[in-house]
Formats: sequence, structure tokens, C-alpha cells
Amino acid sequence: MFIVFEGIDGSGKTTLSRKLQNFLLLRGIKAIWTKEPYTAYIREIVINNKLSAWEETLLFITDRSIHVRELIGPKLEKGFTVICDRFYLSTFAYQGFGKGIPLEDIKKIHRTVIDEVKPDITFLLDIEPYKALERIKSRGNFSKFEKLNFLQKVREGFLELAKEETNTFILNGEKNIYQLLGEVLEILSKKIEIFHLKEK
Ligand code: TYD
Repeated sequence: MFIVFEGIDGSGKTTLSRKLQNFLLLRGIKAIWTKEPYTAYIREIVINNKLSAWEETLLFITDRSIHVRELIGPKLEKGFTVICDRFYLSTFAYQGFGKGIPLEDIKKIHRTVIDEVKPDITFLLDIEPYKALERIKSRGNFSKFEKLNFLQKVREGFLELAKEETNTFILNGEKNIYQLLGEVLEILSKKIEIFHLKEK
């Protein structure tokens, strides 16, 4: 099963997705946790350079292609549950809605480069950008993507995308982590039941 967590910077995806992995591991489920950007070298280029929106788009898609080929695809084939912190909705929301690259163009490249692996379920952690920025400030390091008006566009993008994307659930990122984990587990348990019914 392939589970994706999405949301703006500071929305709490990393903490929640890690908690889910620990929960599954304690129950004997083979689960790995991974994130995007995946490759350290592409992350370094994108984060530390002034690039055009198209250059960023192509680099993030390249990074994802490597991620799927090297890690996600093989692990899914071996029967692991893969939990991924960010996937294609991040590129649609940040480079599409945030930076104005036409969505159709991004989607077309995606279909060509990475078509075979799709999330079974996506959780979108939604939070007011100013609250997310307060959390980031308390961590003490800002990246070039973490500006209020930009994150507002990205947040709206995520919400818009979530409406069209199948099996996508919006969670209120302002709730406490255990409440959120409870909601994730409840949704997953229903989803797993459906999987089992389909298999029968
Ligand atoms: P982030 O999740 O913060 O990674 P790290 O914990 O390694 O810093 O991702 C870095 C930034 O990259 C973040 O601000 C969101 C941005 N990003 C995009 O703009 N598009 C994408 O497709 C992805 C995967 C990330």
C-alpha cells in the first residue's frame, strides 16, 4: 500500500507520517518512511539556487522519477507499505498554483515520466499559512519556499487539487498529533477493509 502525506511547509506532515510508520511497525506491518525531495543532490540544487519555475519543475519530477525507480516501486513490489512525505501534488501545488506553471503541462510530463505508481491514499494536512510559518520560525530555519503569500497560493492549490484527486482526505493540521493519528488510522482501517473485500 502506498500512503502519501501532503501539505505546506510547517503543516506537520513529517511528524504525523513518522508516527504512522512507528504505529504500523509496532503492529508487525512492514512499513518504510521516505520523503521528497528524495535525492540529496537535487534537493541541494533546488533549495540553494535561484532557478526558474520550469527548472524547478523538471528537477522535482526528475527527483520523483529516481525515487519511484530506486525505492518506492521495488518496496511496493516486495509487499512493503510505503509512507511518503510529499509526492506529485507538491509539484502541482508549489510549481503549478504557487509559481504559475500550467497544470496541464506539469501533468503531461508526469504522465510521460512517472505513470505506473500512484498513491492508494493521500492525506492532506491543511493549516493556515501564518500558523505554519510560526511553527517553522520556532524551528529556526527558513527556506526560499516559506513566504506567507506564496504559501497561501500553495495551500489553495492543495485544497483545489484534493477535490479532484481520488482517495484524498483533508485533515485539520492544527489538531494535536494523537487526534490526527487517530483520524488517519480510522480512514486507513476502512480503506483496508475495502481492499480485502475487493480481493475476495
Ligand atoms: P521539504 O519537504 O521542506 O524537505 P526538507 O525537509 O528536506 O527541507 O521540501 C523542501 C521544499 O521543496 C519545500 O519548501 C517544498 C518544496 N517542493 C516543491 O516546491 N515542489 C515539489 O515537488 C517538492 C517535492 C517540494
